[in-house]
Amino acid sequence: MPRIPDHIAIVMDGNGRWAEKRKRPRNMGHQAGLKALKRTAEHCARSGVKILTVFAFSSENWQRPRQEVSRLMELFLKALDREVKNLQQNGIRLTFIGDRSQFPAEIRERMIAAESLTHSNGEMTLNVAANYGGRWDIMQAAKNLAREVGEGHLAAEDIDRDMFASHLSTADIPDPDLLIRTGGEMRISNFLLWQCAYSELYFSPVLWPDFGPDELDRAIKAYQERERRFGKTGEQVRDKKRA
Ligand code: FPP
Repeated sequence: MPRIPDHIAIVMDGNGRWAEKRKRPRNMGHQAGLKALKRTAEHCARSGVKILTVFAFSSENWQRPRQEVSRLMELFLKALDREVKNLQQNGIRLTFIGDRSQFPAEIRERMIAAESLTHSNGEMTLNVAANYGGRWDIMQAAKNLAREVGEGHLAAEDIDRDMFASHLSTADIPDPDLLIRTGGEMRISNFLLWQCAYSELYFSPVLWPDFGPDELDRAIKAYQERERRFGKTGEQVRDKKRA
């Protein structure tokens, strides 16, 4: 049986261009992007994906025009109000990573409420990166480790890869197997920098609002055709599979 990636991460890019192509405000692209997220998340859950992490708002997105940022905040609020019931019905757990402190209180409160409501759902986890940046994540882990060393709870020599990873915002989840970026750009844009060290990368020219089950299946198929070596030789990997 071809393997389904346990964890898929997606950079949902192309909302703005999708709207501009239709001579509509960029916000319309984000609204259509939310619909694409719903159908993609449902298809992931049906396909047996365990975790879907999506880049909804980067630490750098605050620099966008004020109106676009406030429309995005309205959309998050609306989505948190309206979509959580749907996730609950589909057995999907909702979690967030990123620096929440800069979000308005009503968004922060709804994030906590949605996380606790969906906490025991086991079909899939939808992990939303909001005010997230890969460098921020690595920095906050380093600061917390430094604090623990400073307070005498930890020796610097004892910091290894696993311990570092356990201080990242993704401490409880495995690294992404597959990172998809839509919208035609081929870069990581400060997404899960540490966590994507060995992820397979898939770049789709499709703008995010047009993304859905067919494109996702194409990405999963491409992933299934890759040989993951994690630094080893192809021969070593194939020998281990045969053993
Ligand atoms: C990138 O496209 C997309 C975003 C910055 C926002 C993503 C948000 C959603 C899909 C909305 C729903 C999400 C949640 C969790 C409620 P872009 O605007 O950079 O597109 P462009 O490159 O064409 O300008």
